[in-house]
Amino acid sequence: MRTLLFFSIFALGCATGAGALNTGKPMDPVPNPITQTGALVLRERAKDVSPEQLVSPEFQALITRMVDAMRKAPGVGLAAPQLGVSLRVLVMEDRPELQASLTPAELAERERVPVPLRVLINPTLTPIGEEKVTFFEGCLSVSGYAALVERFREVEVSGLDERGQPQTWRVRGWPARILQHEVDHLNGTLYIDRMVSRSFGTLPQVKALYGGKRIEEIKQTFGVK
Ligand code: CO
Repeated sequence: MRTLLFFSIFALGCATGAGALNTGKPMDPVPNPITQTGALVLRERAKDVSPEQLVSPEFQALITRMVDAMRKAPGVGLAAPQLGVSLRVLVMEDRPELQASLTPAELAERERVPVPLRVLINPTLTPIGEEKVTFFEGCLSVSGYAALVERFREVEVSGLDERGQPQTWRVRGWPARILQHEVDHLNGTLYIDRMVSRSFGTLPQVKALYGGKRIEEIKQTFGVK
């Protein structure tokens, strides 16, 4: 099972069959509420959430829907445009069970640690330092694919939580990658705009070709420094 989660980045639901197989009817189509690439809502700058809007039942229900969709996928982050809503809100959560198939060495290489549920509204993101790291990354809105993406190793993000309380969070490693990916969504950017395009592949291919390999070796394959 170890390699199954090699690419368990943002989109691994279809690969593990976590949705389909649990129904006992593997042939049943799994409803996918997550907007897929090509939709214009994924390509526009999402709108700021006003203080009045933030406390409204409709907005609070949106947050609940986002958390449910993220967990059901399963994924480790989701932005409102992925549910077709052009508002600046993201959720993220990296549960230990999503990391269970990665070896300690793989977790260490990615600096991937469990992250409790976070809601960020109207976030602003600032890179800390110049250092960047490259790993395979996927997206629930580009379902079934992955590619190498370079991201800042450490970032600071500020925004409001689900109650409108200001918060600032400085993180490095995998949580920093998730945040950069999700804030990109709020600006109409997808990882496919930033990827090493020759590394773009289906999840089964990426798993078969690069599962278990060190990232330095993978980068050499694509001539990435
Ligand atoms: Co995404």
